[in-house]
Amino acid sequence: MTSTDLIGVFDSGVGGLSVLREIHRQLPGENLLFVADQAHVPYGSRPLEEVRVFAEVITRYLLSRGAKLIVVACNTASAAALSYLRQRFPKTPFVGMEPAVKPAAERTQSGVVGVLATPATFQGKLYASVVDRFAQGVTVLQDVCPGLVEQIERGELTSPATAAILERALRPMLAQGVDCLVMGCTHYPFVIPLIEEIVGPGVEVIDPAPAVARQVERVLRARGLQGKASGGGTVRVLTTGDAAKLRAFLPRLLGERWPVEALGFGEGELEAPET
Ligand code: DGL
Repeated sequence: MTSTDLIGVFDSGVGGLSVLREIHRQLPGENLLFVADQAHVPYGSRPLEEVRVFAEVITRYLLSRGAKLIVVACNTASAAALSYLRQRFPKTPFVGMEPAVKPAAERTQSGVVGVLATPATFQGKLYASVVDRFAQGVTVLQDVCPGLVEQIERGELTSPATAAILERALRPMLAQGVDCLVMGCTHYPFVIPLIEEIVGPGVEVIDPAPAVARQVERVLRARGLQGKASGGGTVRVLTTGDAAKLRAFLPRLLGERWPVEALGFGEGELEAPET
């Protein structure tokens, strides 16, 4: 079944679901098709060129399913591929992610903000340009939180091992007076409760998902591409990894029971599920 009225959304894994959830909440009439490339998660420790190849293959697949707009719900894939995808597919509107340094720099009182993101995101030109444009006069602390994406993929949202990764990253930031903390990876909003326990009420945690969903709405409106205004939009989740495992995880992660199907990552293209 191919619909020509859907929004394609993708990430390396479950992180993009933090963005998908917000798009569904703000635009409940839109049909959403999400691809989690769990066969290749994590993206963040891979070379940018390799992530760009994955992003292009997934984009081609979403376009073949009739996507009218594509959301790159992954900071790493946005750093690696967003400008390339816009050049390669000039007719398709893309909405990507960039670490929310701008709102953090605007809101900080202490003049110290923290960014948690993957190594690839910090290496990309997009991050450097965001810091350069918006964080003049502000101290920006960074941490790549090694192992955190894997913990979240495993469903360990509150375990002592996950808490230890966050403690190691956040204690030095707190010692330097951080008061705004940017979720620069779409996986990390799923551990915000744990982060808030560590940093306490004096630190504002910024999840960019609501702003990304608003941007999706603006782009759809500007191009006259909106779907139904009120409710009824479908959500379908596809994974290049283990569909049964993701199906079982979704209710715990999001409180949702959206259909989850497997998608094969073949030679340079994705193979559609048999439906
Ligand atoms: N969720 C992704 C991001 O926003 C990527 C995590 C990963 O696969 O390393 O950067």
